[in-house]
Amino acid sequence: MKADPAPPLLRVEGVTLQYRTNAELVTATWRVDVEAGRGERVVLLGPSGCGKSTLLKCVGGFIAPVEGRVTLNGHPVTRPGPDRMMVFQEFDQLLPWKTVRGNIEFPLRQARRDLADAVVRERAQRLIDKVGLARFADHYPHHLSGGMKQRVAIARAMAMEPDILLMDEPFASLDALTRRRMQEELLSLWADTRFTLLFVTHSIEEAIIVGSRIVVLSPHPGRVRAVLDARTAAGEALGEAAARTLHDEINALLFDRLFEAGSGI
Ligand SMILES: Nc1ncnc2c1ncn2[C@@H]1O[C@H](COP(=O)(O)OP(=O)(O)OP(=O)(O)O)[C@@H](O)[C@H]1O
Ligand SMILES: [Mg+2]
Repeated sequence: MKADPAPPLLRVEGVTLQYRTNAELVTATWRVDVEAGRGERVVLLGPSGCGKSTLLKCVGGFIAPVEGRVTLNGHPVTRPGPDRMMVFQEFDQLLPWKTVRGNIEFPLRQARRDLADAVVRERAQRLIDKVGLARFADHYPHHLSGGMKQRVAIARAMAMEPDILLMDEPFASLDALTRRRMQEELLSLWADTRFTLLFVTHSIEEAIIVGSRIVVLSPHPGRVRAVLDARTAAGEALGEAAARTLHDEINALLFDRLFEAGSGI
C-alpha cells in the first residue's frame, strides 16, 4: 500500500475576507482555497484589487477570515508569528536608524531570545554574505539602492528561518533589470535551502519565473480561477515554448474574466 503524501504545509480553505468601512462592506476574497507543500513556490497572481495582499496578510495572521480557515503545519493561524515572515513592496520597511546588520539581527534577537548572541551574529553575517551585501553591512538604509534594501528585507526574513516566506510584490518598484536580477537571486537562495514561498505578483512573466505553481485569481472579489504548474514534471523551469503557452493561457484566463466581469480594463 502506498503511504499518503505528506499533508501540505499551508492550507487556505474556503477563505472569505472582508473589510468593514463606515460606508460599506468590501469583500476582498471569496472562498479561496490555496495549498503550499514544503519547499513549494506558490504564486498568487491576479489583477489589482483582487485581494492578493489581503490574502497574504491573512496567512500572515494580520487579518482573520470571515469564513474558512488557514492552517500551517495543521495549526490554525490566528495571529502573526515568526514562522511566517513577510517581505513587502515598499523600500521603507527597514528600520532607518539601524544598519544593514542591525536590521537583520534586531528582529531575530527579539523573536528568538533563546539564541546565543554569537548564533545571531553568525546567522546575520551568513545571510548578509548570501544576498551580496558584505561591503554594506554597516551602512544605513538611506545609503542603499532600492534593490539593496529589498535584499536586506529578504535576508531579515530568512534569518528568522520561517516555515513560509510571504512576499508581496517585493520587486515591483525596481527597474526592469534589477527586478530580473532579484528574481534570479531569489531562485538561487531557494535552491540553497528550499524554503516554502508564497509570492504575490500581478506580472505573468514574474509568476512564471518565480513560481513552481501559480494560483490565478479572478478580479474583485478574488476567487481561484485556476491552479497551474509552472515547472516541468521534473521540477525544472519551462522551456521557451512551454513558458509562452502558459503565458497565453494565463492571459486568456485573466482577460476572459475581466471581460465577463464587465470591468472597464
Ligand atoms: N484597509 C482596507 N479597508 C477597506 N478596503 C480595503 C482595505 N485594503 C484593501 N481593501 C479593498 O480590498 C480589495 C482587495 O485589496 P488588496 O489590496 O488585497 O488587492 P491586491 O490584489 O493586493 O491589489 P494590488 O495588486 O493593487 O496590490 C480592494 O477592493 C481594496 O480596495
Ligand atoms: Mg496588493
